[in-house]
Amino acid sequence: MSRHVTQAVVLVGGEGRRLRPLTDTRPKPMMPLVDRPFVEHQLDHLRRFGVHDVVFSCGYRPDALEAHFGDGAGIGMRIGYVVDPEPLGTAGAVRNAEPLLHGGDVLVLNGDILTDLDLDALLQAHAASGATATIVLTPVDDPSAYGLVRLRVDRAVEEFLEKPTPDQLRPGEPFLINAGTYLLGDAARALIPEGVSCSIERDIFPRLAEQGVLYGFPSDAYWRDIGTPASYLDAHLDVLSGRVATAAPAGEVHVAPGTVVAPDAEVGDLATVGADAQIGPGSVVVRSVVGTACRVGAGAQVRGAILGAGVVVGAGARIGPGVVVGDGAEIAPGAVLEGDVRVPTNGVVDAAGEGVAGAR
Ligand code: GTP
Repeated sequence: MSRHVTQAVVLVGGEGRRLRPLTDTRPKPMMPLVDRPFVEHQLDHLRRFGVHDVVFSCGYRPDALEAHFGDGAGIGMRIGYVVDPEPLGTAGAVRNAEPLLHGGDVLVLNGDILTDLDLDALLQAHAASGATATIVLTPVDDPSAYGLVRLRVDRAVEEFLEKPTPDQLRPGEPFLINAGTYLLGDAARALIPEGVSCSIERDIFPRLAEQGVLYGFPSDAYWRDIGTPASYLDAHLDVLSGRVATAAPAGEVHVAPGTVVAPDAEVGDLATVGADAQIGPGSVVVRSVVGTACRVGAGAQVRGAILGAGVVVGAGARIGPGVVVGDGAEIAPGAVLEGDVRVPTNGVVDAAGEGVAGAR
């Protein structure tokens, strides 16, 4: 089997419900991560390993990706697009991309995984095993919330255990879960039916495992699914602190061009502030993500929170850890928000912190 893989399918069709309201206005792959859309980090990673040919398998809000990346020439890649006529699931979305694939082994990436995995090592292991498909696996401390992937000594997948109970675990075995990155050979993709919803994890991998042709590739590389607000915020902290190798600049903070920070404002502790924002006098923005064109008023505090684009935070307001504010929302001066609060897109919160009803 060839170890030369040049093509990737990136699955970007999900609705990103867990990141609402931020994904009301953009698909999850276009959520900014420090200095570029999230999925661009994935493209950078692919390009670093010589993969220049990518198909975005889209569903929810496909236009945003094409408007930004076009045919990929601007970033030295060739990008094609397919769109699910209805949600096709992860396998159906790969099948839908088949007309744009050249044949042979294809890398498949979930469009919400940040990793600096060594793709060359993955390709070598795949070729050496003769697998029809290989799943990248990442270790977790507690597998009870995930699907455990159990391997034989030769790394062939022995079985999948969904949300295993303690009595199902073997002493000393590594807890490996599906990391959302796969290599699928022709024979693996041929198992996917056309035009119907189908899951790689639930429908295709168990069949390949039964045939003994599905292998695992355990990796300790940095890995994070950015699909929840907490994880999305942590991804920023990891990029800025250099825990994961990306093309974005590491540093104490990232403040994008066009943003004005008042001289006595404090922007620190791995905060990211998007372009064209205004950070007012005496305000504090720490360990947070502040979107483009936000305005943080005088004396306001934003700690451990995520603000979408164009959010207005009134003077003296305090936005604490766990809070997610949708695009265009307005927080009144003096309002205090903290905990698992989600302010809807264009929501208005008054000084008493009311008005977040309807937040998701
Ligand atoms: P949540 O709604 O928050 O669960 O997010 P999601 O559905 O976007 O993500 P999930 O983790 O369930 O899916 C993993 C990856 O597959 C994501 O990158 C999704 O964009 C993608 N994906 C999931 N379902 C589909 C689908 O039906 N079609 C396509 N094209 N992509 C999909």
